[in-house]
Amino acid sequence: MLRRLHSEQPASFAFTPANQAWAEAQMTKYPEGRQASAVIPLLWRAQEQEGWVTKPAIEYIADMLSMAYIRVLEVASFYFMFQLQPTGSVAHIQVCGTTSCMICGAEDLIAVCKEKIAPKPHVVSADGKFSWEEVECLGSCTNAPMAQIGKDYYEDLTTESFTKLLDDLGAGVAVVPGPKNGRYAAEPKSGLTSLKDYEAGKPQYNASAELATEIGDGVKRIQGDEVPLLTPWIGKDGLVAGRTAADPTPPAPERPMPAVKQAAEKKAPAKKSSAATPAQPEAAAAAVTVDEAPETLTAARDGTPDNLKLLKGVGPKLEATLNELGFFHFDQIAKWTDAEVAWVDARLKFKGRIERDGWIEQAKLLASGEETEFAKSAKKDGRYSDK
Ligand code: FES
Repeated sequence: MLRRLHSEQPASFAFTPANQAWAEAQMTKYPEGRQASAVIPLLWRAQEQEGWVTKPAIEYIADMLSMAYIRVLEVASFYFMFQLQPTGSVAHIQVCGTTSCMICGAEDLIAVCKEKIAPKPHVVSADGKFSWEEVECLGSCTNAPMAQIGKDYYEDLTTESFTKLLDDLGAGVAVVPGPKNGRYAAEPKSGLTSLKDYEAGKPQYNASAELATEIGDGVKRIQGDEVPLLTPWIGKDGLVAGRTAADPTPPAPERPMPAVKQAAEKKAPAKKSSAATPAQPEAAAAAVTVDEAPETLTAARDGTPDNLKLLKGVGPKLEATLNELGFFHFDQIAKWTDAEVAWVDARLKFKGRIERDGWIEQAKLLASGEETEFAKSAKKDGRYSDK
């Protein structure tokens, strides 16, 4: 199957504040300079949020991880778990079509999909609620045939039970995952032959089905109570920066500047001048006066800009933005005062990243001819070779 970006794309993407906090916490799991390792969880979160992986989401995540867009596209287009086209607003149905399921009736389930959703996979139904695809073995062969919807398995399906499942989902009726032929989990249909002690006092449904029943949603993509993973080795107190023991949830970051506004600002960056006016009416930008704008250049000295991508946290896109703002050299960045950092920060997509990634400390070292660990590794693996 050809996996390419869908022909119709939304104008922009941004994580919700909660998902942004979750995504930034994921990035702290990896050593400095290796934040690209978070690409799969971030893409997955974007898909959970939007239902599919859009081009703006790929670019947004690439910017967050300082990766080239093509690198993130490579990941998104390689793994079939990422949907590169719109999916149904209620559910995307993944029917297992591998051996056990096929022997036990997967083709009948696919026929239901073709009839009730769309004749072809990856096509959204006329009412916009469903889409479907055939997938390889999902590891639930003892409960064949089965289908995955969201995070849950619906097992031991028949044409009738599967049809009813789709009808219930379409009507907004709460559905319960798990076996649909009376089995509790994967025990023999005739009942347990061993470990019978467990029978007494067990919950009504198996663990997965029980959880879906508890939250009242069998197709929920984001449960909502997943806290960002803590990284105990960050911070002496075992807490990620910005958290306290009493409140381990990090403060929600401000939403990134909308793409349209950012583009408008890029066209007319404010320079240090008494005649200049702030190009960005955003509250954060307005709070910083033009007098606090750093000194900028109209072009690189001697036509030779420094390779700003050697600063950890600066990828090709951010480097272009910095150049457009009038910054071409490490020594310019090394001299920024707190007020000037705030000025630049207000014009970048992610506020706080200058301080978070330590640009000024890095710039001081690089401007003086020294190397940082990140610059060394970036040069070594050819990621960001010198211009
Ligand atoms: S063959 Fe369908 S889950 Fe394994």
